[in-house]
Amino acid sequence: MEEKIIILDFGSQTTQLIGRRIRELNVYCEIVPYNKFPHGDGSVKGVILSGSPFSVYDQEAFKVDLGDIRGKLPILGICYGAQFIAYTNGGKVEPAGSREYGRANLGRFEHDNPLLKGVRGHSQVWMSHGDTITAIPDNFRIIASTDEVAIAAYQVEGEQMWGVQFHPEVFHSVDGTLMLKNFVVDICGCHQTWSSASFVDTTVAELKEQIGNDRVILGLSGGVDSSVAAVLLNRAIGKNLTCIFVDHGLLRKNEFHNVMHDYECLGLNVIGVDASEKFFKDLEGVSDPEQKRKIIGRDFVEVFNAEARKITDARWLAQGTIYPDRIESLNITGKVIKSHHNVGGLPKEMNLQLCEPLKWLFKDEVRRVGRELGIPEHLIGRHPFPGPGLAVRILGDITPEKVRILQDADDIFIQGLRDWKVKDADGREVSLYDQVWQAGVILLPVRSVGVMGDERTYERAVALRAVTSTDAMTADWARLPYDFLAKVSNDIINKVKGVNRVAYDISSKPPSTIEWE
Ligand code: XMP
Repeated sequence: MEEKIIILDFGSQTTQLIGRRIRELNVYCEIVPYNKFPHGDGSVKGVILSGSPFSVYDQEAFKVDLGDIRGKLPILGICYGAQFIAYTNGGKVEPAGSREYGRANLGRFEHDNPLLKGVRGHSQVWMSHGDTITAIPDNFRIIASTDEVAIAAYQVEGEQMWGVQFHPEVFHSVDGTLMLKNFVVDICGCHQTWSSASFVDTTVAELKEQIGNDRVILGLSGGVDSSVAAVLLNRAIGKNLTCIFVDHGLLRKNEFHNVMHDYECLGLNVIGVDASEKFFKDLEGVSDPEQKRKIIGRDFVEVFNAEARKITDARWLAQGTIYPDRIESLNITGKVIKSHHNVGGLPKEMNLQLCEPLKWLFKDEVRRVGRELGIPEHLIGRHPFPGPGLAVRILGDITPEKVRILQDADDIFIQGLRDWKVKDADGREVSLYDQVWQAGVILLPVRSVGVMGDERTYERAVALRAVTSTDAMTADWARLPYDFLAKVSNDIINKVKGVNRVAYDISSKPPSTIEWE
């Protein structure tokens, strides 16, 4: 990248949000741990210090020496970042009164300060801190105050260094994005040229350079991330990319064939491996959810590696890892909060290097890049689907017959969601499928009595699950229209042999989870 902003992460919940806001300004940025500034990287145009769960005066608080950056690059401290700069320069930071949470208004501020240019009078900002700066060093100048917080923002005299105790990155700071724009564009001089098209161009060039004529292996799952990674690599190195798509027999109805067809249309060099027999055999009689997951994970690695080993000249393993999979937000104990789970365990003797071309992108950016690459919308807009597939949606042991029942019921539900159109908030016609984060059917381990014609039936029950969410960490059950639910229920009971009852899951996460197992 030609120019970027570095965000030093001191562990705040909103660090990712700062990154998102800057990307939305079409400026490229990277979040790095607070002590991992990329010294020597000439493309860095400015630095932002994030918030933190610590107090600056805590023994174990994250500290960093800004000596090598200060005076060379513009610096903006946010919340803890602002307190840290003030404190380490001789200012005072103390526990705040309880009023420094939530909305506040910038009653007085320097209208002509470069950071605050264009900010409206009494602009609302969002405060969220347990500490506050009670005194600043002599060479610091207060540039904004609220009724409660005298030192809401400061600038260091004669330097390109600012601190704000509020959070410009959150929605409730109404001119927050403008302040961030003032910083990254006017102060740091970034050009707002970061876009999906520029990402594709730069990444393709980088991949060509990095990989040269080497051969690369990539595991496809049918999902958005691995598909976009594959098409991007295909554009860079063409037939030197070999993709492997394993069918464990637990995919959706016809999914293996449909997705293979899509991949071939995209010009990818894909080896499809039908390993369903092996998975069914190894899963026979196993009901424990964790045991099922372990068997599937183990078998998957075995099958994938057996295929990979055949590509004897491979030098790289590519993966569709994306930014949220990797972000290692530092919590109090320094532990990784979320680590990515799509690394299968590589054949060690192959000595493969790892290539992750999407590792700096958020999910919606991956989708935009996918569109830029011409990947069809039905692949880009796909719901997330768990790696172990329908195995975690069949409660109890797995048999091919149960998979067939679930695939048929699921197909009716998902196709129904795609076909049912509603108006969104802007009056545009969208499908229910696009309005929910994820949906699927669960095959329950119960039978119940029903009546069909003159016959008493005693058959299986299924549950429909559809949720809204932004990140799968929390989710709410989707308020699907009654008429739609009635139609799907009717279709499933009439068309799927073996099912005579349909329920709708109305639990949210937490305390429930999205999947039943
Ligand atoms: P839960 O059920 O924990 O699911 O609310 C959150 C998200 O993760 C997916 N999920 C999985 N994905 N392997 C995966 O690759 C798994 O074992 C697995 N379990 C759940 C789930 O579909 C949802 O998107």
